[in-house]
Amino acid sequence: MKVVKTISEVRAQVKDWKKAGLSVGLVPTMGYLHEGHKSLIERACQENDKVVVSIFVNPTQFGPNEDFAAYPRDLERDAALCESVGAALVFHPEPEEMYGEGFHTYVNMEVLSETLCGKTRPIHFRGVCTVVSKLFHIVTPDRAYFGQKDAQQLAIIKRMVRDLNFDIEIVGCPIVREPDGLAKSSRNTYLSPEERKAALILSQAIHLGQELTQNGETDAEKIVQEMKNLIETEPLAKIDYVQAVDAVSMQPVSKMEGAVLVAMAVYIGKTRLIDNFIYES
Ligand code: PAF
Repeated sequence: MKVVKTISEVRAQVKDWKKAGLSVGLVPTMGYLHEGHKSLIERACQENDKVVVSIFVNPTQFGPNEDFAAYPRDLERDAALCESVGAALVFHPEPEEMYGEGFHTYVNMEVLSETLCGKTRPIHFRGVCTVVSKLFHIVTPDRAYFGQKDAQQLAIIKRMVRDLNFDIEIVGCPIVREPDGLAKSSRNTYLSPEERKAALILSQAIHLGQELTQNGETDAEKIVQEMKNLIETEPLAKIDYVQAVDAVSMQPVSKMEGAVLVAMAVYIGKTRLIDNFIYES
């Protein structure tokens, strides 16, 4: 497995693969890889001849008061994981390689990026769409893999691929959880032991929401309210949002009809965690 830092090295390698008729999968990441990323890379390796993992903490998707500088990084460990799972190439560019002098072009999605995380993080999805578009142009994969934990990101990327005619199949992969239920996230490393325990309130609220829908509750506002009530019993938790939205358009719904995403962002101390479930009637 090779680790490269420049766009031209990625292009040269992918060109050789394509000449040989090989299919290419891309797993875009910000590194500090965990079991969730591992499951994406494994799936990509099963479905493609060659897999590229990008590891890039993308500055344009962090707001001014967010954790860009503090975001955990460990290239050596990440590269070892990628190799052990079967990736062929790791692309690890410096910010200057991705955003050269005088960079002014952004991909901005309307509507879908204005709810949920987009409300609290107004430039986040512009940064995600921009960097993912760039990675798509650089790697030109046949398929790209994203986790369902970032459900709004996945819906936005699917929309972007349709809107901008990228000839790429977007594959969404299930949330991977710790044995006690906490969704895997690179940001879990920020949690103190006490906060780590408190963070279980997110998956407990997800479980409650799922149970209510399984018992036939169709009132989305009631489900959301019960989930909020549960989260509020945890003193270290502060709700950013809990909301039910249409799973494709990301617009609020009041009834559990069709495909509904019930998503949440909750601060545990200073750490903002997300979780969700999808209900399909
Ligand atoms: O989900 C992430 O890790 C990032 O948002 C992504 C898709 C790699 C873009 O920087």
